[in-house]
Amino acid sequence: LNNGLALTPQMGWNSWNFFACNINETVIRETADALVSTGLATLGYNYVNIDDCWSYVTRGKKGQLLPDPKTFPSGIKALADYVHGKGLKLGIYSDAGVSTCQVRPGSLFHENDDAALFASWGVDYLKYDNCYNLGIKPEKRLQNSYALVMYPPMRDALNSTGRQIFYSLCEWGQDDPALWAGKVGNSWRTTDDIVDTWKSMTDIADKNNKWASYAGPGGWNDPDMLEVGNGGMTSAEYRSHFSIWALMKAPLLIGCDVRNMTSETLEILSNKEVIQVNQDPLGVQGRRILGEGKYGCCEFITMSNLQCNLLSQVWAGPLSENRLVVALWNRCSETANFTIKLPAVGLDGSSAYSVRDLWQKEDELHALPVLDAALKMDSPAPEKKRSERRRHAAVLGSQALEQK
Ligand code: GLA
Ligand code: GLA
Repeated sequence: LNNGLALTPQMGWNSWNFFACNINETVIRETADALVSTGLATLGYNYVNIDDCWSYVTRGKKGQLLPDPKTFPSGIKALADYVHGKGLKLGIYSDAGVSTCQVRPGSLFHENDDAALFASWGVDYLKYDNCYNLGIKPEKRLQNSYALVMYPPMRDALNSTGRQIFYSLCEWGQDDPALWAGKVGNSWRTTDDIVDTWKSMTDIADKNNKWASYAGPGGWNDPDMLEVGNGGMTSAEYRSHFSIWALMKAPLLIGCDVRNMTSETLEILSNKEVIQVNQDPLGVQGRRILGEGKYGCCEFITMSNLQCNLLSQVWAGPLSENRLVVALWNRCSETANFTIKLPAVGLDGSSAYSVRDLWQKEDELHALPVLDAALKMDSPAPEKKRSERRRHAAVLGSQALEQK
């Protein structure tokens, strides 16, 4: 969406994955405090997003949305002021149907009033969900789809407030939003809700991968929020999760309780170089280029544990300044050494490359022999400067991506 926002994927925090409905203004304030005191805010995590359950179960006498008086007694404007005072931005949540998923009032038929109210409170971000959409079925795809009936009115309402408000669509990928949402929102969910398991995370990564070519500055595929730090995966698995989300140019919305993180969680979320991959100005979503549990992957891949060969994957994408990000993703349940040949990632071997492991934070300089059989990456390659003899590859560490 061409509203000047989302030039890189949004970063911040959202209340849902950890707190679900157990939110209140203290949690939101303390989260803003913690984003600043942990240094996460400085790293770019600047949206503090309230998810479902902030509003009272019915609208007020004038039809207006009301914050729940028990949990948000000071109101949303006061909270926005507080969050802005910390140099952060405030996000809120509503729904394109008649109710939110937790049965608070939805914004259908109230788009203009609700957008104006959000703007008057100083809201900077709206996550717009898809529950209770009156059962209007997506019978006719694309221009006649129900999603197009439900989502553009809020875009126009937000636009007419004159306030810049990030518009995050949450219709769960049901109606292939990548195909149409670029003109409607700044990001669109491509999948069902994530849960804090390896299976859910990997399934979602695979589903989101399909839509890579539709992402770019202004509008991003959204494979849902991060589970890093919520306890259902190992640290190695969370490093995989964070790496792949960064490479896929997914929104980096922290979903844990940042007031009570372990140092390991903070370390993962604070990996500056992995964040830079996500925030790279080129804005091209990296994708899986090798390995889908099929034979044929392995000419370029060797793993020390042969059984793991089949479950090995290489994900990659171009970055600015003639760089490439590569993730060696061991989807096997065993630790294994993982080797790839550079043609696998489209490098022609005629130059020297500097390679950096973004988890070990180590550089290595390789003078490579010329290898032919360069595999085509199907994401758009960065502009190549022919004269440049040296190229850089940023490599997300192989060990770091092992599922332990
Ligand atoms: C849906 C969304 C979630 C969350 C909940 C809140 O399931 O997909 O991200 O917002 O609603 O009820
Ligand atoms: C159901 C749930 C929603 C959301 C979607 C995701 O519809 O009610 O909250 O989780 O699934 O697919």
